[in-house]
Amino acid sequence: MSEALANLLNETRQFPPPAELAANANVTAEAYAEAAEDRLGFWARQAGRLAWAKQWDQVLDWSNPPFAKWFVGGQLNVAYNCLDRHVEAGRGDKVAIHWEGEPGDTRTLTYADLHKLTCQAANALTELGVRAGDRVAIYLPMIPEAAVAMLACARIGATHSVVFGGFSADALTNRIQDATAKVVITADGGYRRGKPSALKPTVDEAVANCPSVEHVLVVRRTGEDVAWSAKDHWWHETVETAAPEHTAQPFDAEHPLFILYTSGTTARPKGILHSTGGYLTQTSYTTHAVFDLKPETDVYWCTADIGWVTGHSYIVYGPLSNGATQVMYEGTPDTPHKGRFWEIVDKYKVTILYTAPTLIRTMMKWGEDIPAGYDLSSLRLLGSVGEPINPEAWIWYRQHVGRGELPIVDTWWQTETGAIMISPLPGVTAAKPGSAMTPLPGIVADVVDDQGQSVPNGGGGYLVLREPWPSMLRTIWGDDNRFIETYWSRFAGLYFAGDGAKKDDDGHIWLLGRVDDVMLVSGHNISTTEVESALVSHPSVAEAAVVGATDPTTGQAIVAFAIPRGTVDTAGEAGEQLIAELRNHVAKTLGPIAKPRQIMLVPELPKTRSGKIMRRLLRDVAENRSLGDVTTLQDSSVMELISSGMGGGK
Ligand code: WT7
Repeated sequence: MSEALANLLNETRQFPPPAELAANANVTAEAYAEAAEDRLGFWARQAGRLAWAKQWDQVLDWSNPPFAKWFVGGQLNVAYNCLDRHVEAGRGDKVAIHWEGEPGDTRTLTYADLHKLTCQAANALTELGVRAGDRVAIYLPMIPEAAVAMLACARIGATHSVVFGGFSADALTNRIQDATAKVVITADGGYRRGKPSALKPTVDEAVANCPSVEHVLVVRRTGEDVAWSAKDHWWHETVETAAPEHTAQPFDAEHPLFILYTSGTTARPKGILHSTGGYLTQTSYTTHAVFDLKPETDVYWCTADIGWVTGHSYIVYGPLSNGATQVMYEGTPDTPHKGRFWEIVDKYKVTILYTAPTLIRTMMKWGEDIPAGYDLSSLRLLGSVGEPINPEAWIWYRQHVGRGELPIVDTWWQTETGAIMISPLPGVTAAKPGSAMTPLPGIVADVVDDQGQSVPNGGGGYLVLREPWPSMLRTIWGDDNRFIETYWSRFAGLYFAGDGAKKDDDGHIWLLGRVDDVMLVSGHNISTTEVESALVSHPSVAEAAVVGATDPTTGQAIVAFAIPRGTVDTAGEAGEQLIAELRNHVAKTLGPIAKPRQIMLVPELPKTRSGKIMRRLLRDVAENRSLGDVTTLQDSSVMELISSGMGGGK
């Protein structure tokens, strides 16, 4: 890329924290000062929030960059920190998980229940020959056993590799083979959109090509018939009959805790490797600081799937290490009806809700009448993660979910960072809609230009991290060179996140999407995110995706796909008028250079299973090419809808 990112969006609204939250916040502005004064001392204090079997000798060893070691010489057990210490402190009867199945069945697990199941699973895995350092693949629906399986691996020092339950047999095969997993933990199936959705046949297909797999543990969830082989064991016959006593052994702070494959849409997936002490320190601290979690009174709900890093860090390790009570939901937000999420908030009196912009925009499309039909008064804090949140989606979230008064934490991080890096602190920061604001205490982030020079306030460029952080990835599994190549080679000595970003006049950070998604129009770099936000700021638009299409005159031209809000008339003439109005609206908001060449009104957008827009496919449409690989799409019929609805728009 020739020039650092342009900086077009001018959003000036700002929302200070509610006074009561600020007065009682877990973390105050002092934390920034403390960390600035002595960064490693600050992280050592956060590590001290955990129970260590052996104290570390050195906070950080950065003598061989980019290979970091945190809390060198220290030892701890992650499962002990998430379970035993709460039970030992007399909190065994506290609810850890309110689980809600998609069909409406429920389970309540206390910390004592979760501890017992985890000990049994640890014994069962040991019995199956799993030893510290072995890899275990986990391919489960959103049921409590998913958390138990992860914690049981952590407890015995086995490295887990969770594979999202929506992935195909090929994807599962690649991941099992790359990590040479010895055991797979799965289920007969789960519930999805009102129907049982089988998992076991996919595992059977994968395992047939994975000689490393010795055993398959199968949870019975749907009760549907499954094929059975000599390697298969029912969970209820193996785990639930195992001894409930298990003493957790401590592991080295740098012991590999898990591998999680990033779902890259093009290249071979990367096995992101996380280790033990630093990872737990930062996930635990950020849960406490960013969500202001009060374990005694809060009911926390993160709507992510355990197959993504958000589920690892903010369903399993962060909340449980803090002794939280949380909600876990198996299904989709519109089964059996579009109010399901709000019904769950109402039912369990959820106080902290952590979800994704894609969901918020879907809720916008469905209309505010739906959340208005439920009592959401228990909520006190809202969070967002996964992609840039458009200012209008942020405002909608605050208005229609947050009663116009709740703080929103827009949290920037990645599978690679392991934990939240840039985010408002809810009791401190006056947040701006659409900005992740400030690096957390102890995190050193910056925006740099092409040459790696820090840009001044008002400038745009690339997001980097200047200093190692405790929960950073340690490498790409089996490929140190690719680790160096991918993250540490673009700018000498800096971690390159792959995201475009800008600093506003106050120095606050705005994420502009992946740099691969930046368009080059008549020599100007324009961020897809900014044009999308401009479109969504129009009252008729619920959601938008923007791509750069090859153009003979301008190099690339901006092509936009917009989903109109539920009640908007788009038939014939009205549709043409709306398109003209939207083009002008973008030109007015961002400047004439950002005016889309073409806008198409569409009913849906193609998304990956983690909810990210697949711009690659939209580019195919915009450039009249036949579609590339659609196998990672959440719903493959979407592209037919878009291609067939393409008549309107120019
Ligand atoms: C990429 C990482 C972080 C857990 C879920 C995604 C984008 C994530 C934000 C945010 C703007 C964001 C970035 C990042 N992203 N959060 N708050 N604002 N962009 O993990 O699949 O590893 O994706 O998601 O582009 O690099 P992931």
